[in-house]
Amino acid sequence: MKHARLQPALIGEHPSMVALRQLIARVARSRANTVLIYGETGTGKGLAARMLHALSDRAGAEFMDINCAAIPAELLESELFGHERGAFTGAVSKKEGLIEAANGGTVFLDEVRELDHVMQAKILTLLDTRRFRRVGAVSPIDVDVRFIAATNKVLLGEVKAGRFRDDLYYRLQVIAINIPPLRERGDDIFLIAEHCLAKYNEHHGSRMRHLDDDVRAVFRSYQWPGNVRELENLLERICLLEDGERVRIEHLPARILREVGRAPAAEAAAATALPERGFHAATRAYQASLVTQALARAGGNLAAAAKTLGLTRHALRHQMAKLGIAGAGSD
Ligand SMILES: Nc1ncnc2c1ncn2[C@@H]1O[C@H](COP(=O)(O)OP(=O)(O)OP(=O)(O)O)[C@@H](O)[C@H]1O
Ligand SMILES: [Mg+2]
Repeated sequence: MKHARLQPALIGEHPSMVALRQLIARVARSRANTVLIYGETGTGKGLAARMLHALSDRAGAEFMDINCAAIPAELLESELFGHERGAFTGAVSKKEGLIEAANGGTVFLDEVRELDHVMQAKILTLLDTRRFRRVGAVSPIDVDVRFIAATNKVLLGEVKAGRFRDDLYYRLQVIAINIPPLRERGDDIFLIAEHCLAKYNEHHGSRMRHLDDDVRAVFRSYQWPGNVRELENLLERICLLEDGERVRIEHLPARILREVGRAPAAEAAAATALPERGFHAATRAYQASLVTQALARAGGNLAAAAKTLGLTRHALRHQMAKLGIAGAGSD
């Protein structure tokens, strides 16, 4: 028996994700032998393909993950279909292809729109006849595989532009699964974030457990063009580089803050001060925001704040007096 915990899982309670998991389970158990997965980069297409395999009665056989964009076109045919000895220069022995090796299992054609016209035709023939020929072979081989194709672009555009065969498109399109972008999944962002933090805490020995409220607000309004992968990478970086148990707004890259209209405090202060009050007032606003940020990060501790600013405690006190910043905190 397979261990349940080894099964890939798409985390999420948003209605679209609950429906997606149900659809995947249903398609997995069906007799459908082609499935097309759409989704922006990093949305979980690879994960969905693994679930389709793991939940099917093909789970005992191979799952072949083939990235059509990563294999040079001239090698792809013999990689997928295999070749006979002497089929071409360099074919010193017979070789089984990935499709044959996946017999009884699943072939995942990632970035399927990268297939050239010749390969599109060969794949279509294979889908229609369930047989193929190794390169240089005379007789065909029967094979029983489920094909899952994935793309991050709507394929119809490629069909209209003449880059993707319409007959293959319609064949793949029979069962199409759409994975929504992360920005449309509501509070799932937090569920996935917590899952990531737990994972990275374990890997990196960090203790990050909570997201501050303003971080949560930023996460909800940011667009996440790189979707779940972008969220994972961001949180991994924070677990590696920052201390403490809370993800704080200062931990987020300025680029993300700017995109949600929250310029990092110092820049915002300087930018608003500049047009109205000129250079000196803008510089003062910038200095003030550096000092208040340093104090906030240091929990009001003057010595610690001075250290992050590269000032002596005396110089920091002087700046605070000059800028009119009250020093309620400890030394
Ligand atoms: N709903 C989810 N719950 C938990 N982890 C997820 C979820 N969706 C994606 N992931 C994780 O996010 C990362 C990206 O997912 P995946 O590689 O499947 O995306 P993709 O759509 O195939 O991306 P690409 O278009 O770049 O190939 C993986 O580490 C995956 O495990
Ligand atoms: Mg992928």
